[in-house]
Amino acid sequence: MRIAILGSGFIARFYAESLISQRRKDVVTLIYSRSIERAETLATEYKVPHFSNNLDEAVTHVEVDVVIIALSNDLHLAAVTACAKAGKPVLCTKPLGRTAAEAKQMLDLVTAAGIMGGYLEDLCYSPKFLKSLQSIKAGSLGRILWAKSREAHPGPHSNWFWNKELSGGGAIVDLGCHCIEIARNYIGKEIKPVEVMCWAATQVHPIEAEDNAIGLVKYANGAIGQFEVSWCFRGGMDLRDEVQGTEGTLWINNFLRTGFEMFSTGKSGGYVAEKAESSSGWLFPVGDEVHELGYTNMFTDMFESIENNREPQESFYDGYVVNAVIDAAYASAQSGRWEKVQLEEWRGEQDGAPAAIFNSYDEEHYLIKEEILPSGATILILKDKTTGELSRRSTSPEGGQ
Ligand SMILES: NC(=O)c1ccc[n+]([C@@H]2O[C@H](COP(=O)([O-])OP(=O)(O)OC[C@H]3O[C@@H](n4cnc5c(N)ncnc54)[C@H](O)[C@@H]3O)[C@@H](O)[C@H]2O)c1
Repeated sequence: MRIAILGSGFIARFYAESLISQRRKDVVTLIYSRSIERAETLATEYKVPHFSNNLDEAVTHVEVDVVIIALSNDLHLAAVTACAKAGKPVLCTKPLGRTAAEAKQMLDLVTAAGIMGGYLEDLCYSPKFLKSLQSIKAGSLGRILWAKSREAHPGPHSNWFWNKELSGGGAIVDLGCHCIEIARNYIGKEIKPVEVMCWAATQVHPIEAEDNAIGLVKYANGAIGQFEVSWCFRGGMDLRDEVQGTEGTLWINNFLRTGFEMFSTGKSGGYVAEKAESSSGWLFPVGDEVHELGYTNMFTDMFESIENNREPQESFYDGYVVNAVIDAAYASAQSGRWEKVQLEEWRGEQDGAPAAIFNSYDEEHYLIKEEILPSGATILILKDKTTGELSRRSTSPEGGQ
């Protein structure tokens, strides 16, 4: 694949880095930036043959097969429109839109043009995430009841993020988009997110948008997704997931405390890891950052999807669902109530009553609890299915119990 990257900022570099860091048959052939100097600088640095400050020329260039959008949130729709017009597959960074309405327009544009729309949600491609999802899909955790994802750091690096008009919001739209899609994957993408309850506040920065928020996303099967986001967290970038199922539990520390710890007086410090606040003292570097954050696996899935004419693991449709959940979160933060997730287009299972599936012990009893006591005895707490009576059985003498 011959790739154009639109943008020359922070994420454009991450993308370029992941596309050139390993041997690949895919090559970046063009960099677009509104500043021709920045486009040229990046093109020179990454040995990219073409650069431009004209978006339409970049997208329609004969040596471009696929376009990556790495522009500020307010420009995603215009860039997708240009790709749809040119009939070129397009991969857009997160969040897809500033609102669900904007995301839906992008989804409709790629659908009408018959091109692939890939949603660049890297954290749903990190090695730890992929392994845990595979294991959860195979049933290792049983029925998923609760999935929590947290992203917190000291705030973004460019002015436009802090401008609600341009960004679409604060920490919820910027970081919550990751957390919502992570929890949605764990719970099951076929299960509809139905309602959101959210607290959001502007606690530290003089901005219109929120710099802290916590939200609960209720799913049609009764599962709960939880997102925690902050632009006020001090100490680096905290990316953690927790999943609880009927048969197991999973905790992932994606970034800050991954087992790589280093102390330096800071004499010749430099870049440590994304959003690291210091290059001295105890540090938590990240080995292969673009791989550990999921970018490498993400692009492999995207290009293979284009070549094989299939949907990628994360598509524009997923980006649209995430935006719809975010809209409901903002509505709830305003109203203080549960707010419905408004989905004009839903491709998953139809709503059903939340399943109450209890473990049967035998024909007459449910099994509520089984536990091995310090005495070595195993006890069972049972409930009679007809009378509701609770009883306790022991498989051997309970000693001091
Ligand atoms: N993990 C991730 O997936 C991740 C991480 C960071 C950012 N992002 C996303 O990437 C996008 C860009 O963020 P960033 O961190 O690279 O920001 P950035 O400010 O570093 O870069 C933004 C880019 O957009 C360009 N731009 C801004 N206004 C423009 C205009 N009016 N006309 C033309 N170009 C314009 C800038 O020149 C720059 O190239 C955002 O949508 C952001 O949410 C994703």
